[in-house]
Amino acid sequence: MKRVDFLYLSQEDVLNLNIPMSKIIDLIEQGLYEHGHGRVENPPKPGIHSKPDSFIHAMPAYYEKLGIGGLKWVSGYPSNRALQLPQIAGLMIVNEMETGMPLAVMDCRWITAVRTAAVSAITAKFCAKKGTESLGVVGCGVQGRMNMVAFKEVIPDLHDVSIFDINPDAMKRFKDDFEELGVSVNISKGVKGAVEGKDMILTATQRLKEPLVKNKWFKPGCLGFGLEASRAWYGDAILEADKFITDSWDQTVYFYEHGAFPDGLPTLYAELGEVVAGLKSGRDSEEERILVINIGLALEDVIVADYVYNVAKDGDYQSLTLMEKDF
Ligand SMILES: NC(=O)c1ccc[n+]([C@@H]2O[C@H](COP(=O)([O-])OP(=O)(O)OC[C@H]3O[C@@H](n4cnc5c(N)ncnc54)[C@H](O)[C@@H]3O)[C@@H](O)[C@H]2O)c1
Repeated sequence: MKRVDFLYLSQEDVLNLNIPMSKIIDLIEQGLYEHGHGRVENPPKPGIHSKPDSFIHAMPAYYEKLGIGGLKWVSGYPSNRALQLPQIAGLMIVNEMETGMPLAVMDCRWITAVRTAAVSAITAKFCAKKGTESLGVVGCGVQGRMNMVAFKEVIPDLHDVSIFDINPDAMKRFKDDFEELGVSVNISKGVKGAVEGKDMILTATQRLKEPLVKNKWFKPGCLGFGLEASRAWYGDAILEADKFITDSWDQTVYFYEHGAFPDGLPTLYAELGEVVAGLKSGRDSEEERILVINIGLALEDVIVADYVYNVAKDGDYQSLTLMEKDF
């Protein structure tokens, strides 16, 4: 029996590859296109829950046509911050699809951060109204900032950005980072000031006791994103949107069955993959209010991890032995 080795990539190894956001967006668009055409095996994520509000999820995916497959094993523990540990952490495994052998094990944190933002950017590419130039961001943490980077890739004219966060340091960091890039960032005193009347609204917050975005602030033509699986948007804003789009309807229903969407499940207009694959239109009018709650699919992680592996595989990285011979 042959010896089997696999590549090990730490978070720093992955970061130091300097893969640009534009590449991540291209990869995930390709992934969503395959998903829209029904050529990706992406079962609902099972999980274990050792503490309230916490999870460790298993997220496998296999691309039939591209021959790419793997798994993300990711934990989310909000109480970790007090322990100086990241809230989101975990590993990805990339497998060889002819034999199932592991090719690489790598950190999943950066991949999780960039893929989520790239999915928002692809949604904006297909669903933002023409001439979009303003954005309201509520929650200026990792996702608030990453989404902004990704939006700029697909909407270079985006220049009028208002933000709100309960943490002033998070707002300062956001403002400093993006003003350096020529984006005018206005710090608002509350959610209303940040989001009302904007072309796009993004909520990227944590652990909310009640929703933040009111229906009346979500104006005609707006494209709204909630990264918290419904919790940041009032029920009428969700239910009265002209279109409701998500990357995964199965996961949306699963979340509903476990307490999300307390005012009722919206009617699905389309999965994002169907829009990207051209099977459903994105935006049909400049007046439509489109609400998007992307949940996060394994296929989004796996296509990026496969690319990371391919970029790194001939480099000077640690190789680990899985087995040397039969026993
Ligand atoms: N859908 C997906 O695929 C996906 C993937 C990753 C993260 N997420 C979600 O995105 C959200 C943001 O994640 P993150 O990694 O950026 O977290 P983060 O902790 O880095 O940032 C969250 C920010 O929200 C702010 N905040 C909290 N409550 C607020 C409130 N009431 N009003 C305004 N600001 C508030 C915090 O101060 C913080 O700056 C989380 O809910 C996370 O679960 C979704």
